Amino acid sequence: METVKYNESLELDEYIVGSDTCLIYFHGGGLEAGSKKEFNKLALVLNENGIDCYLPNYRLYPNAKYPDFILDAAEAVAYALNKRKYKKVVIGGTSAGSYLAMMLYFDKRYLAKYNINSEKINGYVFDAGQPTVHFNVLREYGMNHKRIIVDERAPMYYLNEKVDSDVEFLVFYAEFDLNTRREEIELLKHLMINYGYKKENLNFHYMVNNRHCEYTPTDFFNETVLEFIKKLRWLTMIKEILEKLTLEEKLGQLTMIPPFFFIKDLKKEVFGALTSLKLDEEGVFKTGSVLGIQSHEEMNVVQKKYLEKSRHQIPLIFMGDVIHGAVTIMPTPLAQASSFNPKLVNKGAVASASEALKKGLQVTFSPMCDLSRDPRWGRVVESYGEDPYLNYVMAKETVKGYKSEGLLSCVKHFAAYGLSEAGQDYNTVDLSRLNLFEYYLAGYRGAIEGGADMAMTSFNTFEYIPATTNKYLLRDVLRKELKFKGVTISDYDSLLQTIYHRTSSCDCDAAIKGIKAGLDIEMATSSYMRCLKEAAEKDPKLLKLIDEAVLRVLKLKEKAKLFDDPYRTRHLSIDSSRAIDAAYNLAKESIVLLKNKSLPIKRRTKVSLLGKYATEKHVLGPWSWHGDPKDTDELAEHINAGYLNSSEYFDDYDIESIEKTDHIILAIGELYHESGEAHSKADVNLSNHYIELLEDLRKLKIPITVILYTGRPQILTKALPLIDNLLVHFHLGTTTSKVVADTIYGINNPSARLPMTFPRHQGQIPIYYNRLSTGRPYSKTNPYTLKYLDVQNEPLFEFGYGLSYSNFVYSNLELSNNQGDLKSLPSVKVTVTNDSNISGKTSVLLYIRDEFASIARPVKELKQFKKISLKPHESKVVEFKLTKDDLSFYNQNLKKIVEPGDFTILIENLATKFTLN
Ligand code: NOJ
Repeated sequence: METVKYNESLELDEYIVGSDTCLIYFHGGGLEAGSKKEFNKLALVLNENGIDCYLPNYRLYPNAKYPDFILDAAEAVAYALNKRKYKKVVIGGTSAGSYLAMMLYFDKRYLAKYNINSEKINGYVFDAGQPTVHFNVLREYGMNHKRIIVDERAPMYYLNEKVDSDVEFLVFYAEFDLNTRREEIELLKHLMINYGYKKENLNFHYMVNNRHCEYTPTDFFNETVLEFIKKLRWLTMIKEILEKLTLEEKLGQLTMIPPFFFIKDLKKEVFGALTSLKLDEEGVFKTGSVLGIQSHEEMNVVQKKYLEKSRHQIPLIFMGDVIHGAVTIMPTPLAQASSFNPKLVNKGAVASASEALKKGLQVTFSPMCDLSRDPRWGRVVESYGEDPYLNYVMAKETVKGYKSEGLLSCVKHFAAYGLSEAGQDYNTVDLSRLNLFEYYLAGYRGAIEGGADMAMTSFNTFEYIPATTNKYLLRDVLRKELKFKGVTISDYDSLLQTIYHRTSSCDCDAAIKGIKAGLDIEMATSSYMRCLKEAAEKDPKLLKLIDEAVLRVLKLKEKAKLFDDPYRTRHLSIDSSRAIDAAYNLAKESIVLLKNKSLPIKRRTKVSLLGKYATEKHVLGPWSWHGDPKDTDELAEHINAGYLNSSEYFDDYDIESIEKTDHIILAIGELYHESGEAHSKADVNLSNHYIELLEDLRKLKIPITVILYTGRPQILTKALPLIDNLLVHFHLGTTTSKVVADTIYGINNPSARLPMTFPRHQGQIPIYYNRLSTGRPYSKTNPYTLKYLDVQNEPLFEFGYGLSYSNFVYSNLELSNNQGDLKSLPSVKVTVTNDSNISGKTSVLLYIRDEFASIARPVKELKQFKKISLKPHESKVVEFKLTKDDLSFYNQNLKKIVEPGDFTILIENLATKFTLN
């Protein structure tokens, strides 16, 4: 045959399989829309796999109508049967191509036109997302749904199920990207084998216009193909492993325990922790994953001991809580959110990941994406605060950062844990589905879109069912709505806690509920291992659920590259200097200036440095178990203090010495163990001893700068008038002291904004900026409106508040068009000017207010933001492109909709209107 170059205008692919049968694959519109490059790559994969391809000279888009190209397709089939003399043809495709294949298959008119005997044709569809179209076609042609396999995890299903030889039409849903396409090719081969063809007969060819095409694979491409082939080998391997595992071994893969069980002499210590775990030594060595490893050395010891006893050499996977850094501690997530700088957050995650891997972990239990509106809840410090969009962005960037280094991540706590009643940890949560979808899912969605590999269930209930056994949450919301494909895991002991929720009668009842709900791994308890074997004997349907879960776990281990190297030795050489840089740069943008009369001060200013954080080295914040306070500096090391005293009581001070100085720096606040898990507070007022101290210091008539270290918003109403300058941060990690000092001296110009509202009074909690409009908004003249008798409505500092040493002025808020439809959404432009002599950065926040809708909408919502730098007196025009997403919301049927009407666009003190037609 003649060899030609690939002709870009051609759109139909034919896979020729075996000497008897030809497999024709119709691609979808995405290929056309997506670019020829993709097709080129696809062609390269095909070629590499020894595949030739026939591409009739027809275009699917843009001008062709369905019947026309169905005829084209029919002609391709006729060509294969009549000219190429194949005995049978299998047709299939993706997206629009799948529709085409189905029509051709079911509507005999098209084949009849070319005198094709329809018995010579069989079909399949791989699809990226047109289930309704498929079902409609199938229904129209009276197909029996039972003969169709419909699932987005096509490869899983394929490997799990034997495809019956009489299956007429298979429908798989698969992702629409190049990787899946490569998988598809292999799946086609598998499919053909299942149709009864021998592997060795599967002689694929790739051709263009009936002629061979020629490509020169690039190095990059060779690598991709190699990886792909490895992946395929692996897919076959897990199927084989799974077949070899006993049910007990499978259940072991679904169990996670702490490392000491492997290290200790279990025979001697059966009365200790092992009693509560209720496993014997054999059981311990069947479990599949480990929670919290201290070091790479410890990980190696455990892995070695484990693999020595392991029948199938499936390595353990090690997971732990690297929440904001492993060795080098980054700012806490709440502090990171204050930066409004996703790029720096990403870099922080990259650095954390490299250190976590070095410590022997393969998965981190991060990001925590629980929308947090209640500062009493100790865990707000682990969150990205109160705004859904900020949560979405930060979660996504964090996961992408971890991923880029090869650390797997687990989004938590699914779902809506942040709404724990009264701010108490482990408490009840109650919210509507609409609230869940519109506000609380955003962070988890971001993490999943970023590529989170696991999801952890939360301790709370949703609709009165604990999240860990909540089928609606785990199957419908997590897998269907959020399209999560990874592994689910309980929180610590949360499966058995359903007994205390009084929704499971015993541990075996909990285990059955867990596996049915879609819980893959049980953390720190062993009810799956102890109960599910017997349960599956009574109800064999459980076996399939167990197999699905085990397959996901094995895939996770493969993703962690543990089958290549169970000891992960190659990560040992990473150095921590870039982590320190990442931590410092992020911390600089995470310190919030809330009040300013006289900062920055000069280095030569004589200062009194007071308060516990003057000399405290544990500045790492909660969840910093791998971090060592020895690696940090005291603030006193960075501030040249004329007088230094870390007491917080006026009587302990030498007042004469303070009076010799010109500025008081008071470094005070919560210690690292005053926030985080199990550290909720009923009282979030700034401690009274600080108010007394400030009142006394005030009398000295020396300017006071307060640096507040805190894990949550605190009530600062009484303190604020007593303070000249106020810097707040939510624990900045390893480089805290340098960053605080640099900010005081103006080496760092603050650019952070609050990710959570600071209430004026405790009774206002929960208080957040994106509240709904009410029927009786506050009115001065009408007492029967929304208000308190004793406190005004406004918070002390709202979400988004944050000052700078520069003075940013906003002007000229303009839309490219003030009305339009969804196809002509406007660009928004605003001019930001730095009206000062100091260079600075600021985040430009774009809010939207939906003026009228079928359901109540928030007073305003953050939709986009951009962080910019401005030199002294520089102006920049910042541009945003409004998207459909910015204007949409979930309705009562949980459908995302957009309603025409007026939307107000708000940036800083400016507002303008857009009308959607
Ligand atoms: C309990 C916490 O709720 C969760 O966030 C953490 O990841 C696990 N323990 C494991 O340490």
